[in-house]
Amino acid sequence: MNKLNYNSRGELIFAGHSLLDLAKKNKTPFYVYDLKGMLGQINQLKNAFMTPTHIHYAMKANSNPTLLKAFSKQKIGVDTVSIGEIKRALECNFKPTDILFSGVGKTEDELIFAIKKKIKQINVESPEELIRIGNLSKKLKIKTPLAIRLNPDVNPNTHPYITTGFRENKFGMDFSFLPEIKSILKKYSNSVFLHGVTLHIGSQLLDLEALEESLVKTIPLFNSLRAEGYPLKFFDVGGGLGISYKDYEIPPRITDYANLIDRHFSKTDIQVQIEPGRAIVGPFGVLVGQIQYIKTTEYKKFAIMNTGMNHLLRPALYGAYHKIAPIKFNKNTQNSSNLYDVVGPICESSDVIGKDRLLPKLRSNDYLAILDTGAYGFVMSSHYNLSLPPKELVLK
Ligand code: LLP
Repeated sequence: MNKLNYNSRGELIFAGHSLLDLAKKNKTPFYVYDLKGMLGQINQLKNAFMTPTHIHYAMKANSNPTLLKAFSKQKIGVDTVSIGEIKRALECNFKPTDILFSGVGKTEDELIFAIKKKIKQINVESPEELIRIGNLSKKLKIKTPLAIRLNPDVNPNTHPYITTGFRENKFGMDFSFLPEIKSILKKYSNSVFLHGVTLHIGSQLLDLEALEESLVKTIPLFNSLRAEGYPLKFFDVGGGLGISYKDYEIPPRITDYANLIDRHFSKTDIQVQIEPGRAIVGPFGVLVGQIQYIKTTEYKKFAIMNTGMNHLLRPALYGAYHKIAPIKFNKNTQNSSNLYDVVGPICESSDVIGKDRLLPKLRSNDYLAILDTGAYGFVMSSHYNLSLPPKELVLK
């Protein structure tokens, strides 16, 4: 949600609905999602590329079943990272051939499930994983399509916890792994085949330079593998497109992203796969909670909410910033603003949703909206302190 939009009664509007009305009808805290907004993003992505490009939504960002069912009707696929996500995708009408399976630590059970289901592709992250897939495929007598995940050693200039394509990260394989990978592929040539190369250099990318650099590094390798006879068809560039959490953050436009891909691929016969998560769902979710108490100390004013790091971990884990706004703008108090630490109920000092936020004078029972929480919000929630999960509402 880029701009705060209040109606004439001073109520914050989200996807055409008054959040105050929703808060009165539904017990807080809850996440609320703007499905039309999300479908709009998918549509923009679908139409942006000249290169044949398959969208595989990274469902780790938000795996709400109502959203997934709607996404599966858009003829896109998913990128999954666990057996739980694969099962959820199948339950939400994605076909096995729509599903990619990524992740560094796939277990035997997860791989057996994926191989038997004959999903589109398993993204391999290490030689030992390749051997495991080879052995399992052999046992199951199924020839499994694979992509190798390369680590191009680029610095995508994002939060260190969500950087993945740097040499010090656990993800992917640098080019020195190739001789070993090739010899394992040869050994298991009756059980697996390499049909793609995959990258994912990091999340919340606000510029495309590192992605460009990684394409420049890896496309020649793709071509040389092909020349050696590997039946490579797909180049998967991963996800990572950022969104604007702060007004001054300007993420790459989808058209610029598409131009980058097209510059590298449109004149080839390579099919591109992309794995966007945050860019599809992030701006189209809001977490609504209610202030329980205002507590004023000599140093601080705290607005203590009924939701916190148990429902939205990003601020505590990454120091991430989310805009916070009252869902009812009170004319009597709009001129007296204060600095507040907006905090949750959890017994941890890191349970801060927003530090030193300038907000109109707040009172207990006021509702607050925490914006841009459609991605990595509900999915990262926990039951710490045995707290109950927030509800999720989908506006259609
Ligand atoms: N593909 C792979 C292999 C990934 O690991 C990820 C995200 C994506 C695609 C989707 O990336 P996106 O388009 O959403 O940037 N919890 C963190 C983000 C972690 C991202 C992990 N991998 C956060 O809240 O910022």
